[in-house]
Amino acid sequence: MIALGCDHGGFAIKEAIKKYLDESGIEYNDFGTNSEESVDYPVYAKKVADAVASGECEKGVLCCGTGIGISIAANKVKGIRAAVVTNEFCAEMTRRHNDANIIAMGGRVISEEQAVKFTKIFLETPFDGDRHIKRVNMITEIENENS
Ligand code: RB5
Repeated sequence: MIALGCDHGGFAIKEAIKKYLDESGIEYNDFGTNSEESVDYPVYAKKVADAVASGECEKGVLCCGTGIGISIAANKVKGIRAAVVTNEFCAEMTRRHNDANIIAMGGRVISEEQAVKFTKIFLETPFDGDRHIKRVNMITEIENENS
């Protein structure tokens, strides 16, 4: 189960990603927003981050104007590693090296086609493990020291 969320700036790419998930038979929970009416991105970041951190959803996709605000908010939730992605290389590497559990993208930065492509790569790429486990654990240690 994939958690989806966006603000008004990310609504169009979220809808394109939903279409791709529907066509691929991938289950998702859409936490909104559901129009281009102005809303506050931290609301949707928290809904998706909570769903991923609790295990209700295995990964999340968040979209705002840049992907930045919504990722910053999501990363405040313990256990979340949300990465802003602007190209295919980063979509792949943030799974392989960072074990990112949320991809964040900007509807004012990338096209709908790119958003779908980056989401597909993110969902299909496994974590490399190995030497990267230690580094991801170090991120968790920082989180634990501050919670
Ligand atoms: C909303 O105008 C915009 O600030 C938001 O979508 C996002 O880009 C924030 O980082």
